[in-house]
Amino acid sequence: MAKTDEREKFYVTTPIYYVNDKPHVGSAYTTIAADVLARLHRQIGHDVLFLTGTAEHGSKIAQSAEKAGKEPQDFVDEVSAQFSLAWDTLNIAPDDFIRTTEPRHEKNVVAFFNKLKDSGKVYEGDYEGLYCIGCEAFKKESELVDGLCPLHKTKPDLVKEKNWFFKLSDYTEQLKDRISNNDIQILPKERKNEILSFLEQGLEDITISRRTAKFAIPLPWDPEQTIYVWLDELFNYCSAVGYTDDQEKFQQYWPADLHLVGKDIIKFHCIYWPALLLAIGEKPPKAVYAHGFFTVNGQKISKTLGNVIDPVEWAQKYSPDAVRYFLLREVPFGQDGDISEEKFVARYNGDLANGLGNLFSRLTNMVELYLDGDAGEYPQSPKDLSAATEDFANLNFSEGLVKIWEAIAWANQLIDKSKPWELNKTEPEKVKELLLQLVALLYDIALRLSPIMPEISNKIRVALETEKITKAEPLFARK
Ligand code: MSP
Repeated sequence: MAKTDEREKFYVTTPIYYVNDKPHVGSAYTTIAADVLARLHRQIGHDVLFLTGTAEHGSKIAQSAEKAGKEPQDFVDEVSAQFSLAWDTLNIAPDDFIRTTEPRHEKNVVAFFNKLKDSGKVYEGDYEGLYCIGCEAFKKESELVDGLCPLHKTKPDLVKEKNWFFKLSDYTEQLKDRISNNDIQILPKERKNEILSFLEQGLEDITISRRTAKFAIPLPWDPEQTIYVWLDELFNYCSAVGYTDDQEKFQQYWPADLHLVGKDIIKFHCIYWPALLLAIGEKPPKAVYAHGFFTVNGQKISKTLGNVIDPVEWAQKYSPDAVRYFLLREVPFGQDGDISEEKFVARYNGDLANGLGNLFSRLTNMVELYLDGDAGEYPQSPKDLSAATEDFANLNFSEGLVKIWEAIAWANQLIDKSKPWELNKTEPEKVKELLLQLVALLYDIALRLSPIMPEISNKIRVALETEKITKAEPLFARK
């Protein structure tokens, strides 16, 4: 069938999050970044599909449901709804939200596994290994620290069971080639090097089923076993675009243009996932971008330490756009970095209230006072900020924001220096020229910020687009 939409497409995804707990600042981070890219590409006129969702199968979830004294399905329904609500609160607007317990996904996973079996790359064997339920993954002895999983600080279970395996080892060379020549782009380059050096050691086959896992999809050809949750989860990227049920949609959007992930899950996305897709005859994703990890006041974020940040609480206390700004501004995307409420408040007051907010208040005030609220036709903006937009498109969010805030500081200083409140007495024409230039700059800034701060951007544009501009309400109340 002919393609009905000839626009360039942009299919961007986030990991689907475990519903063992409410949203975390880490999951908010990935999802905000994806939302920014989706908004930016929509602005450019691309046919965007932004997918996020929740991972709801497996032992970890079953255990959390039991702890909460709930039936697993009731439990996952509740927590998944909290994720949707959290994204809403943070002005995140995905085009689709997939849940692994939905029939549309389960049916696609079964089709995927049947195809995998037909590929001849699947065999039966015995497996003995150490399984970390927190990671939902087998661990090698060498990956443990003092016998514990370094991420979860728990002792993995010794598991000895009959499993089905996937011949991942057959893909070492092919993946090396595809990754080295950027057929599958891995970013930033540190992560690409990490994956390439992992491939240098040669790949081992992986298990694709579990005998003892609860609350998971039965393996179609051996229902005593269940499908390994990570593979069930990875396939969400294909089920959401209609792998078995909507060929036209699948052709339109697959392969994904960008999987955004945290650096802890790159092996799954850069090795297992492309190899599985190649085995079933589908294209691997075009790019995987891994961001870094946050610490809080220099410490790992953990419930035991009591330093968990609730992104929704921050959004309600300050404002959703301020949270979006802070997370993308504070740490260069791709690197690890430290955050805290103190740092957030410093940027909130400094960059937002005293920087952008102040410029907006003074400008609208002065246009009302000195131009009778009439900004008329704006001239061209005195600063070219297209490089900031390019930074955003390349996921250099922090750098782009620095460029915009340099322009904000420049504008605020120009106002301080030229003192329109005095100049207006002698040279009102000069004041008019200055204010119109600054209004043009602020309007351009608002447009460029709209993917990152959609609500604030909209407030600024609406205020500047009215025929009679009046002194506006502050954008950010100082804290
Ligand atoms: N279910 C899998 C993903 C399957 S995708 C096919 C999973 N879920 S998760 O809920 O554990 O994901 C959490 C996400 O939050 C990961 O992307 C992880 O990198 C991110 N973060 C968790 N802690 C983090 C920080 N301290 N800092 C930044 N991001 C971190 O993995």
